[in-house]
Amino acid sequence: MDELTKVTHIDNVKLSEDKRSVVILDQTQLPNRTVYLTLGSAEDIYDAIFELKVRGAPAIGICAAYGIYCLAAAAKTDDFEKFYMQFKKDKEYLDSSRPTAVNLSWALNRMEGVVLANKEKPVSEIISLLKTEACEIQAEDIRMCRAISEYGLSLIKDGDGILTHCNAGPLATSRYGTALGPLFLGKERGMEFKVFADETRPLLQGARLTSYELAKGGLDVTLICDNMASLVMKNGWVQACFVGCDRIAANGDAANKIGTSGVAILAKYYGIPFYVLGPTSTIDMDCATGEDIRIELRDENEIKEKFYSEPMALKEVKCYNPAFDVTDHSLIAGIVTEYGICRAPFNESFQEIFRKKREN
Ligand code: MRU
Repeated sequence: MDELTKVTHIDNVKLSEDKRSVVILDQTQLPNRTVYLTLGSAEDIYDAIFELKVRGAPAIGICAAYGIYCLAAAAKTDDFEKFYMQFKKDKEYLDSSRPTAVNLSWALNRMEGVVLANKEKPVSEIISLLKTEACEIQAEDIRMCRAISEYGLSLIKDGDGILTHCNAGPLATSRYGTALGPLFLGKERGMEFKVFADETRPLLQGARLTSYELAKGGLDVTLICDNMASLVMKNGWVQACFVGCDRIAANGDAANKIGTSGVAILAKYYGIPFYVLGPTSTIDMDCATGEDIRIELRDENEIKEKFYSEPMALKEVKCYNPAFDVTDHSLIAGIVTEYGICRAPFNESFQEIFRKKREN
């Protein structure tokens, strides 16, 4: 396997050989160490998601789907009511690990749907159907990323400069990624892009993960600090911005890693198209606007201490650490899904995309 294929096909979330645990690539150890973790208990899975050992909206959905299957498979009862009571408890617990990415509850709800649709069947059969569903969620993600990559690639041309924020590559999904997918696909086809990866404070997903993936795949990547984005845009080095998303409201407002909305505002100022790339499972029609999206607030030590050998601020200093922000739909040139590119007015464009999805 060549280096590019190794990166685009990286094994970040899978079932263990005995199909009883979830195996993840610990993203907090990258880029320095390749460490795989085996998650056997509900607490292991919750902690891995909460601590961002597995992260990226689609990847946490896949991890939770495999996780709830493994927990269900460990059930020691043949009684459906008892089985379902424990399933619900585990589902709610896993679902509470991170609030913003809709893919987590979306995947868990899909798994619950399998249990409820088959309640007349023996528990052992339900468990086997849960495994099939979790595998299908991952297989679908592979197909979705590939389709998003194709649509995304149609928006850019050979030689373009692309700026990205956070990490929406293979580590965050299953193969290729969303925002980085078109760049990997283009590279496969002999195209060259100049990618600017924002380091993405406070947890440095851009530095630790995006620049790692792109460099390993042989792409031309330049790592910049978040506050340098304006300058590289002003210099004329960026022809498009590509970012991922954690939840998109019905009007097109899109939640993604904190700092994304600032990139979008800069892009608007410099006349650069700003694209959000993500599967239709990230569109949450129950959220009318970005105001309805719950933003995760994280521990202040992520700003003051994490990743530094010495504290970077006095202990008593107050911090505000939201993990995501919402980019207003008016700043978004297009939302690239597996069924095509949605444009404003997004509400109407989403209806059309969901119609296409139902027909498929
Ligand atoms: O806090 P993280 O690292 O999970 O945030 C991830 C992002 O913001 C990604 O851009 C998003 O989940 C899309 S991943 C395809």
